[in-house]
Amino acid sequence: MNLHTAAWPEVEAYLKRSKGIVIPIGSMEQHGPNGLIGTDAICPEVIAREAGDEAGFLVGPTFSVGVAQHHLGFPGSLTLRPSTMIAAMNDWIDSLARHGFRKIYWLNGHGGNIATIQAAIAESYAAWSMDGDACPYRLKSENWFTLPGVMDVCRSIFPVGEGSHATASEVSVTYYAYPDHQKSVEMSPKIAPEGRFADAADYRATFPDGRIGSDPSQATPEHGERIVAAAKSALIKDVKAFFGE
Ligand code: NI
Repeated sequence: MNLHTAAWPEVEAYLKRSKGIVIPIGSMEQHGPNGLIGTDAICPEVIAREAGDEAGFLVGPTFSVGVAQHHLGFPGSLTLRPSTMIAAMNDWIDSLARHGFRKIYWLNGHGGNIATIQAAIAESYAAWSMDGDACPYRLKSENWFTLPGVMDVCRSIFPVGEGSHATASEVSVTYYAYPDHQKSVEMSPKIAPEGRFADAADYRATFPDGRIGSDPSQATPEHGERIVAAAKSALIKDVKAFFGE
């Protein structure tokens, strides 16, 4: 069940059997010349929805804009300041907790969000700890791409040119989700450079087409389907363990 297509009596009934919810959390940022700007939101969303449908847990709306200041050199990229994201995540947590949700699982799709998600979780717990009260809920965050076994599948499909941004795997997952939005682009160079970056201007100068270390022209919906299947079973296992705690 998805929260945004449920009616409130359905949510009330769900809360009688489960206090858990999974929230996909991503980013809205350039993903190279053939990657969808919503890639980091789409990947956790499609994995969470397929897992939720199969295992019967509730999936929240996608928190689709994250911390991506380093991508602002490319048209279409959006960012939140880390402080804004911490505040927004805490408003989502407080709203869900008010209704009785006690296990909130954030399924992340963007490496640049990790530090801020951890800070948001610490902020949420700090409010209870400093008041001297026991926090009634538990928060967890995992990246879809670091769920057990997922990287092995990605590496076996793409032994060369997987890369670390605009990866062949993540673009494949979006092509599986949105086959009508595949883009055929000749990559030059074939495999993008690796390296580090600081701000948006530095990133654009270092990685002119937006990719880091990848050749996403290898992406196909069929590869994406295999990756989603692997991530879905790993997620179901992890969510069941967390909700059952
Ligand atoms: Ni990405």
